[in-house]
Amino acid sequence: MIRARVIGSGAFLPETVLTNDDLAKKVDTSDAWIRERTGIRQRHIVKKGEKTSDLALAASRAALSDAGIDAGEIDLVIVATTTPDETFPSVATMVQARLGMSRGAAFDVQAVCSGFIYGLSVADNMIRGGQAQTVLLVGAESMSRLMDWTDRSTCVLFGDGAGAIVLQAYDGQGDNSDQGVLNTRLFSDGRLHDFLYTDGGPSSTQTTGHLRMAGREVFKHAVNNISAAIVASVEASGLTIGDIDWFVPHQANQRILDGTARKLGIDPEKVISTVAEHGNTSAASVPLALVQAVRDGRIRRGDLIVMEAMGGGFTWAAGLLRW
Ligand code: UT7
Repeated sequence: MIRARVIGSGAFLPETVLTNDDLAKKVDTSDAWIRERTGIRQRHIVKKGEKTSDLALAASRAALSDAGIDAGEIDLVIVATTTPDETFPSVATMVQARLGMSRGAAFDVQAVCSGFIYGLSVADNMIRGGQAQTVLLVGAESMSRLMDWTDRSTCVLFGDGAGAIVLQAYDGQGDNSDQGVLNTRLFSDGRLHDFLYTDGGPSSTQTTGHLRMAGREVFKHAVNNISAAIVASVEASGLTIGDIDWFVPHQANQRILDGTARKLGIDPEKVISTVAEHGNTSAASVPLALVQAVRDGRIRRGDLIVMEAMGGGFTWAAGLLRW
């Protein structure tokens, strides 16, 4: 059975760091409130002129170098993003060009914070269907560009960054001992639009709009939706929560991470958390956390990993992967 195995990973964070104290100078908030309610201490944000494609390109180069392959070997570039440089063309085509690629296909996936796992599902299915051998999958965001910097209920939560993985086809056994993506499970409920959206877009206001969120409502759905997605993914491969080595969650709020771990009986030591340093980087948050845990030696070859996310739409998703 063809499987999509991860052969390289990389990440990039913009240089500029915005601390909670920096934010307290702009809006009526405090380091204590932000830490207590979210766990966030700081976030990285793009500087003037720095774009999502710059972050995506840097993470892609790091992932290709880690994989030890040339961009010419890539058949497909997928970028999960909500903050493209331009309404069109896709960030993926910009990355393709800047990597010097003259072949293959490239497109963006838009599922907000769930985008990386939606992209993983597309990449996995393209590889298993035989349409691609090697896929570059990137999550890249400049969420700071979507903020209303006078709205303290949202502007303290988000950050910018990018993470990337290279997936390649290999012949697996077809059981859960295989390396690579074992399954993905995707969900959405468009009726919940009003809890998390931007108040603009090309066909409505002809502007980008700002992110608007009913935080408490999102929070209420988050733990249940994320837990259900994790269980669906783990059970689809005939495994139990106890079999999983690492949980790599979307980094929205430490309280959501803790609540999900409590609900499912997950050992908190197995939950990778970068929310304190990165804030919520939307589609970049899962690959950024993944790369951090790979680099610091926690995630090793053969480990079983569950990734999960939830975001605007609502969309939510989980993916099971043997590293
Ligand atoms: O990635 C997409 C998914 N997004 C999420 O998962 C976000 C989910 N939601 C959350 O993480 C939390 O709901 C928040 C962190 C957004 C908010 O935490 P909360 O504990 O739900 O606070 P709240 O919205 O209930 O607000 C409590 C109080 C309010 O004041 P009153 O009405 O009690 O007087 C807010 O006005 O905190 C106030 N508040 C703030 N105070 C200081 C809201 N934002 C701030 C702030 N600084 N930045």
